[in-house]
Amino acid sequence: MTRTAIPLPHLIGFTDRGGNWYAEEVPLAQLAKEFGTPLYVYSKKALTEAYQAYDRACIDATGKRRARIHYAMKANSNLAVIDCLRQLGSGFDLVSGGELARALAIGADPQSLVFAGVGKSADEIAQALKAGVKCINVESISELHKINRVAKELHCRAPISLRVNPDVDAQTHPYISTGLKGNKFGIAYHEVLKTYREAALLSQIDVVGIDCHIGSQITTTSPYLDAVDKVLDLVAQLKKEGIEIHHLDLGGGLGISYGAECPPDITEFTNALLNRVAERGFGYLDLVLEPGRSLVGNAGVLLTQVEYLKPGVEKNFCIVDAAMTELMRPALYEAYHGIVPVQTKAVENVTYDIVGPVCESGDWLGKDRSLAVEEGDLLAILSAGAYGFVMASNYNTRPKPAEIMVDGNKAFLIRAREKMVDLFANETVLPK
Ligand code: LLP
Repeated sequence: MTRTAIPLPHLIGFTDRGGNWYAEEVPLAQLAKEFGTPLYVYSKKALTEAYQAYDRACIDATGKRRARIHYAMKANSNLAVIDCLRQLGSGFDLVSGGELARALAIGADPQSLVFAGVGKSADEIAQALKAGVKCINVESISELHKINRVAKELHCRAPISLRVNPDVDAQTHPYISTGLKGNKFGIAYHEVLKTYREAALLSQIDVVGIDCHIGSQITTTSPYLDAVDKVLDLVAQLKKEGIEIHHLDLGGGLGISYGAECPPDITEFTNALLNRVAERGFGYLDLVLEPGRSLVGNAGVLLTQVEYLKPGVEKNFCIVDAAMTELMRPALYEAYHGIVPVQTKAVENVTYDIVGPVCESGDWLGKDRSLAVEEGDLLAILSAGAYGFVMASNYNTRPKPAEIMVDGNKAFLIRAREKMVDLFANETVLPK
């Protein structure tokens, strides 16, 4: 079967100009020549426009800010990417000590940081408290007590919100659904009030917010509204009990188009959420959104070179130099990414599975794609700006690729390709 029916996603920053793909003003073929493949290429313009559209949607007609963006850097944590977003005014959602270190490395204001994650270690909690983050999102009663203990040792107070598991179906891939009661994330809905009461009694804890995140690549607004309603029911009950919540964090998860999907318009999406909060009488709460993919997903492509065309009995294979090690999403979620030849060729279209060199049958990047390519040609794997490089691995002792950011007619190397020696620099053989 050939998947001709799936259109290309609408892209800003990447265009096909008469059969040659460009990143802004720079031909992708030129980047491949200069920096080699596989190669991640991001467009600063795409990143900037995505952020600005989101930001505008968080401001009402009178210019009043209705919500703040804390970019979920797990989607793409390259320093150049997060620094661009910081300069545009973004805060950050972090899930590890490593991400916190990245935020501090670019000079992010600690008060623009929320620290989340289902299994924070005592060291990570201490790191967050010492940095002075705005809030730690708590995922269990045990974690709440651990935070209290660490804060006591550090003679400080810990601002926290509880991550509620609202038990709503985000209607997305099961591996990226997080708000169902069977998921490991958040505090079970029926235990949230009890946990807030306990938090209010702990000596070092300041209850500041409430949080939920129901999943990723969500393409309809209704699961969010279900979650908002359930979380606001809790806020109302807490208010009655004298536990005041100052901010409401609705997480991230808004999907992008990889081709076939039609996610809601960003302004309609935020209006639906923010209006629901206001209609229910909670317009006084500070609102936090944690988008990841919807800011960076379509701001990046992965360039790869065709190594071999291999006709098969049942399938034809287009073997490229990128693999599941560079882009894990197809192997892990059977995710679809658009794939285009970087330069149009007058050769016959053939239906291929596009696969990498890694020793796994799960190592594929696209299935049943009709392509007019020859060995040595370049392909661009689209919508690779989110959960691409960050999920890369060194499996099969493959060096991680370089990353480039294009700004107009300039290309900047924002992460050098790993060298072979880097791959085992931290290993030693046993003494002789
Ligand atoms: N906030 C929290 C607490 C999260 O866990 C996540 C993502 C986000 C925000 C950002 O979600 P986004 O806006 O990017 O959907 N590797 C998967 C996605 C995993 C998402 C994990 N959490 C993929 O490639 O589809």
